[in-house]
Amino acid sequence: MLCYLNGQFIPRSTAAIPVEDRGFIFGDGVYEVWRVVNGHLFELERHLKRLNFGLGELRIDAPEIARADVILSVAERLLRENDLTAGEASLYLEVTRGAAPRTHQFPAPGTKPTVFAMANRFTPSDELRARGATAITGPDVRWLRCDIKTIQLLPNVFAKQAAAEKGATECILIRDGVVTEGSHANVFGVFDGVLRTHPLNNLILAGITRALVLEMARDLGIPVEEEGIDELELSGADELFLAGTTTDIMPIVRLNDRHVGTGFPGEITQRLYKELRAHLDAASMSAGIGR
Ligand code: PDD
Repeated sequence: MLCYLNGQFIPRSTAAIPVEDRGFIFGDGVYEVWRVVNGHLFELERHLKRLNFGLGELRIDAPEIARADVILSVAERLLRENDLTAGEASLYLEVTRGAAPRTHQFPAPGTKPTVFAMANRFTPSDELRARGATAITGPDVRWLRCDIKTIQLLPNVFAKQAAAEKGATECILIRDGVVTEGSHANVFGVFDGVLRTHPLNNLILAGITRALVLEMARDLGIPVEEEGIDELELSGADELFLAGTTTDIMPIVRLNDRHVGTGFPGEITQRLYKELRAHLDAASMSAGIGR
């Protein structure tokens, strides 16, 4: 597999970063994950906007790859040379503050950010979606800037591992008695026909899929509330689902070993998924790479 590292396309097996890279030492960096359908980067601009927001919050000077034309040309070559231009794939991009002697404060001005990108084959979990996934709840022990998509993901790793150890797909995170999100997806609930999800603030990532779900729901005439779901309300949800780039819309039919709603994927969840799939397919038909 060919990957991109600091301006060069090289085999992933030989790609290496200096041991003093601040991403490695401090988790000092941000990342993005795009969905790629038939060579097209889905929601190119929204992901780039979030990347640039994160870089700004970390005060890392935006490298060229944070521009649409540059990421598109990098993606085009990665996809082509890795035989990923047909079907589904994902594109991962990471930018760290670069390599410098280990001091907590920022390194000397002029330290070049490290830029890494790779493309991978992606297979949507359609079988799981058809029967519905299971989830557990767990404490949200992350920091207070979850709106920045940093590479510091240890609490997310722990959450997903806790789910995996219980044979579940995801861990729904609870902070101060309120559902925030999942380990790598946003969380939605349906209560009496009303779709609810945590409001945008520092406690969740502003998911691109989340934004699409809200737009699609409004278009479909489904009432929407951006308000936190109380942990105590969870057991009374008619439907629950996850939303994320590598999750699509995934119904949760069992939570902490109890049925959610009917125990089958809910109607609103399925309508929204159909709509999202149509968006993904439509984007893949547009002219040229990207959207
Ligand atoms: N994760 N919340 C968290 C904590 C996430 O890590 C993600 C995405 C989302 C969903 O955001 P989006 O719809 O923009 O993908 C919400 C990526 C896919 C990952 O870590 O692989």
